[in-house]
Amino acid sequence: MDGVRGMTTGGGEMSFNTLTVAVVSGKGGVGKTTLSVNLAIEAAWGFGRKVLLFDGDSGLANAHILMGVKPSRTLAELTTGEVAMADLVEHTPWKIDMVAGSNGAHELLTADEQHRRRAADQLGDLMGDYELVVIDCPAGADDTALHYAHSAEVALVVLTGEPTSFLDAYSTVKELNLTYKRQCFDLVVNGVASEAEGKQLFARFQSVVSRFLQAELRYLGAVRRDTAVNEAIRRCVPVVRHAPASSAARDLAAVAGRLVRYAQRPRNPADLPDRGELAAELAAGGLA
Ligand SMILES: Nc1ncnc2c1ncn2[C@@H]1O[C@H](COP(=O)(O)OP(=O)(O)OP(=O)(O)O)[C@@H](O)[C@H]1O
Ligand SMILES: [Mg+2]
Repeated sequence: MDGVRGMTTGGGEMSFNTLTVAVVSGKGGVGKTTLSVNLAIEAAWGFGRKVLLFDGDSGLANAHILMGVKPSRTLAELTTGEVAMADLVEHTPWKIDMVAGSNGAHELLTADEQHRRRAADQLGDLMGDYELVVIDCPAGADDTALHYAHSAEVALVVLTGEPTSFLDAYSTVKELNLTYKRQCFDLVVNGVASEAEGKQLFARFQSVVSRFLQAELRYLGAVRRDTAVNEAIRRCVPVVRHAPASSAARDLAAVAGRLVRYAQRPRNPADLPDRGELAAELAAGGLA
């Protein structure tokens, strides 16, 4: 039964495996947080999935800002031992739950091994209650991001047309492939002018990867550059709700649909990465 939870949905019992998705890039500022927040919300709002968003960017936690949510508690408080993981779950107005990042506050506190282990156990259990867990990762070839991507079922790599983004995304894929032995990567190309440009960039990326690495790349889709995204951020409303008919929101909905299909695909729990390992990495990163 490990990894599979029963869920009653009126009609009776159905079971699911939690799909864990780590959103990584390499280069900063390419849209990881925008994608994490909006894909999570679209999966819940548009596809009726039970979703947890985990802000894994403990240095620059900002996923809550995009949703206009002021977290009452953050991961750092776990170090006191008085707060349990379940107390950290924020129910947002966007039909998803969230564990907010600690925004540097953790520098004031250091968790001991016992607290970290307790946090990891509780987080592992908590994740099992959701069909989809999306992790917004820190930028850069940061070890933390690599650990998250290594332990998640899906490593969602965000790529843009900028040459630096291309190179940094390649370095991330290479490191995960050679050092961490990850074989499969899911690519989203963000900030493109057209769907065709997205496909072109993906094809270029794939040709470089296939020349040097033994890795499988899957194309999850492209998200067009759209001023609605910036406008939504200014209003602290996720773009998929602020402007659902905008080109970016429609693209995000298509990508979310593909992730939901991954989540619904029957998988053998024995073939999935160990959720406990991911929980331990997240607890270690958040409570460093
Ligand atoms: N499709 C898009 N169209 C227009 N603007 C976008 C799009 N995607 C992201 N942006 C803008 O790019 C900026 C960076 O986005 P975001 O914060 O999501 O990146 P990030 O990868 O999470 O950054 P960091 O590495 O600092 O965590 C934001 O101002 C956002 O509005
Ligand atoms: Mg971010």
